[in-house]
Amino acid sequence: MDKYILAIDQGTTSSRALIFNKDGNVISSAQQEFTQYYPNPGEVEHDPLEIWQSVLSVVEKAIEQGNIEKKQIEGIGITNQRETTVVWNKETGKPIYNAIVWQDRRTSAKIDNLKERELQKEVKNRSGLLLDAYFSASKVEWILDHVENARNLANQGKLAFGTIDSWLIWHLTGGKKHITDVSNASRTLLLNVNKVKWDVVLLDLFNIPESMLPQLCDNSGIVAYTSSEVFGEQIPISGVAGDQQAATFGHTGFHKGIAKNTYGTGCFLISPTGKTLVPSAKSLLSTICWRFNNEITYGLEGSILASGSAITWLRDGLGIINNADEVNTLANSVPDTGDVYFVPALAGLGSPYWDQYARGTIVGIDRGTTKAHIARATLEGIAFQVYDVVKALEEDSHTPLELLTVDGGAARSDFLLQFQADILGIPVERPQEIELTAKGVGYLAGLGVGYWDNLSQIQQIKSDTKVFEPKMSENERKQRCDRWLEAVNRAKTWAS
Ligand code: G3P
Repeated sequence: MDKYILAIDQGTTSSRALIFNKDGNVISSAQQEFTQYYPNPGEVEHDPLEIWQSVLSVVEKAIEQGNIEKKQIEGIGITNQRETTVVWNKETGKPIYNAIVWQDRRTSAKIDNLKERELQKEVKNRSGLLLDAYFSASKVEWILDHVENARNLANQGKLAFGTIDSWLIWHLTGGKKHITDVSNASRTLLLNVNKVKWDVVLLDLFNIPESMLPQLCDNSGIVAYTSSEVFGEQIPISGVAGDQQAATFGHTGFHKGIAKNTYGTGCFLISPTGKTLVPSAKSLLSTICWRFNNEITYGLEGSILASGSAITWLRDGLGIINNADEVNTLANSVPDTGDVYFVPALAGLGSPYWDQYARGTIVGIDRGTTKAHIARATLEGIAFQVYDVVKALEEDSHTPLELLTVDGGAARSDFLLQFQADILGIPVERPQEIELTAKGVGYLAGLGVGYWDNLSQIQQIKSDTKVFEPKMSENERKQRCDRWLEAVNRAKTWAS
């Protein structure tokens, strides 16, 4: 009987399940979108139970489509939207509030307060991160302070906190395991990234009882088994990672001068730095990529909080396109943006600016501006944000970037990647298979159960790539980047 690896990719807008064979090929997959709630400006929530149901449903569909039985799954990998925060009752398994999504800005005032108390440096030294509402810590505190009786229950040890990996594993194991992997933990603002342990000082800053926290686990290796009552079979969960770290693992074979960028709801650029944590002087994040076989890999990350979501906004908010692909047709229908710039700060600005109060800004509109110019400025705005992060990374690592490898939904756009190469002045490489998040966690899960023997076996499963070479003149690049920076300055601190 042939064996397979199941990867569950629980993203910001949809849940997906993919089944991989030994050659690293996808034999079947299923995807389901779920509801996005926007209760107030700057707030984004998900229903954790809807997420759980969507995961079960895509797993069933992928198994059915692949025409396999559950017992043919050798290991399960789980990867997820990071930072998104769920608090649930340990006795009932029910969430006490909706999941507060990573894009949510409701806790900005709390963060300001910590900044005013000059705690930024201490927080950075401990967590590798910066003070920002993006991370989980202030979201957990908000739930404890705003849901009736929550703090009381938390103090009695009756509540559990977890990012989405943790929430799914809790349910997949029938409530037996409350764990999270170290890559997800490194995004909570509660982990001491040097010691790889929950940090009591950080817990104290956010008034979070330690009893709520999951146990830490590795990214590869058997960490739990599914409950047969819930899942139908007892199957090892042998890979867990935050989606950006999983995508990084999916690219395989990194060395200095290479970084990956995933164009998803946001854009997340990671450059692995090896066994040592590299502190950022430039407002990037020091994060854990993965840990297994007693070895840890750190990385520097630039987090851009809106990219694909800006394209979705063109569709759902502005109504100028019917589907995401149309943005390319529109963008290509005009020779330039007519000096229009769109800073897609829809959830504030992340790296390298970290402005919680920046908001999306379109500048340069005149009577001749059409939806085509706005579409083109949207794609360019995504690429300019990546440019800002690359510049910060180069300064931090004292190494010029030689190549950017890319993945994620918007990486399908040839227009975007050509402009990205032009504006960076370096080649951009796109693998044929752009769903590297699921593939990466599939690899981690496969390694964890010996489905693949070692990393070099995985590195041989490379797909073909397309390389976009820069064509823009140095002069034009400089002029365009200067103009972009002017636009960014106008987007800053808008909502404060
Ligand atoms: O940090 C947030 C990130 O994990 C979300 O990823 O792919 O849903 O945009 P994505």
